[in-house]
Amino acid sequence: MSILDSRITRRRFIQGAGGLALAASPLSAPFVLAQPARLKVGLMLPYTGTYASLGNAITNAFKLYVAEKGGKLAGREVEYVVLDDESEPAKAVDNANRIVNRDKVDVLIGTVHSGVQAGMVKVSRESGVLSIIPNAGFGAATGQMCAPNIFRTSFSNWQTTHALGKVMIERGHKTCAWITHKYAAGEEMFAGFKEGYEKAGGRIVKDLWLPFPNVEFQALLTEIAAAKPDAVACFFAGGAAVKFVKDYDAAGLKAKIPLYGNGFLTDGTLQAQGASAQGILTTLHYADSLDIPKDKEFRLSYAKAYKLQPDVYAVQGYDAAQLLDIGLKAVKGDLKAGKALVAAMEGVTIDSPRGKWKMSKAHNPIQDSYLRQVVGEQNKYVSVAWKALEDPARGCKMA
Ligand code: BEZ
Repeated sequence: MSILDSRITRRRFIQGAGGLALAASPLSAPFVLAQPARLKVGLMLPYTGTYASLGNAITNAFKLYVAEKGGKLAGREVEYVVLDDESEPAKAVDNANRIVNRDKVDVLIGTVHSGVQAGMVKVSRESGVLSIIPNAGFGAATGQMCAPNIFRTSFSNWQTTHALGKVMIERGHKTCAWITHKYAAGEEMFAGFKEGYEKAGGRIVKDLWLPFPNVEFQALLTEIAAAKPDAVACFFAGGAAVKFVKDYDAAGLKAKIPLYGNGFLTDGTLQAQGASAQGILTTLHYADSLDIPKDKEFRLSYAKAYKLQPDVYAVQGYDAAQLLDIGLKAVKGDLKAGKALVAAMEGVTIDSPRGKWKMSKAHNPIQDSYLRQVVGEQNKYVSVAWKALEDPARGCKMA
């Protein structure tokens, strides 16, 4: 048995964190049937700061799915333990330990920020707790640090920018500047972009960085103007994306140097970005106008429940709940059946609002990357930029 195999049989899966309650004892009331133990779901996500809206969308959609199932997954009533991780990597290990070892959640859902995810993955590997990542693209989670108990329903950072370079070359932009926040996600997205763009024949003339979550873009915008690239590619999300798109426009650059990005630049942000975002092209695994029945259904229920339009983060949160439900159903809600649970989650085809996707051997979605364009308050589907894009899962022993 490998280390990874033995890890999955460790404490969490052995004890099942409650599992199914035994039949009522002879001393209890005669006709009262025992209820299965509640399922404790830990939501460790950002609810404050730049990525707060992302954490809220994931939470909303996860809860929406559970509510659609009558508040239960595989017959077990769901109880939530919620922790604001503040997108603060320095607190990640302590926070994850708190929710896993003190609050003893059965399942850990989180997070958004790749730096925080690094700490969570460490705790997930040590504790063996079943973990589902509903956003953070931290490569090692399904790369060198992959593990049987860790799954992702979102993307790897590499996946989000790999198709972008090809798209920009097809549109005639032979040189570009890159700009992003300096942290794990920004670095990995840059690496994915560089690989794709240079392979397609492009040349990156400048790469510009600022510390997360700083949004003082002015000096860097001046550098972009001076470098005169054919186009700009970037990664920003949440509050930072809103400010960057507005500042780029206000600096007079939008009309001169086309702005591209992975789709976080314009997802969940369009109302606040207004006219500054119109026409921007991005690549992502979701778009607002997909002709997919599951998406239409999902958008209607989300809008009804929250009086908001869903975004990519909501889709990933919804799919995290779907994945968990599929796994739990396969083992009739019994987390003790670790291997069978994992096998069921590995074999899934998720009927997602983004389109059907399969789980890779490294536990990351194999999914289409769409080219989208901002029209009004929508990221309109333009075309499939890359069919069934799979992360290379470098360093993952399961792949
Ligand atoms: C990340 O840190 O992995 C991330 C954050 C926001 C959007 C996408 C990725």
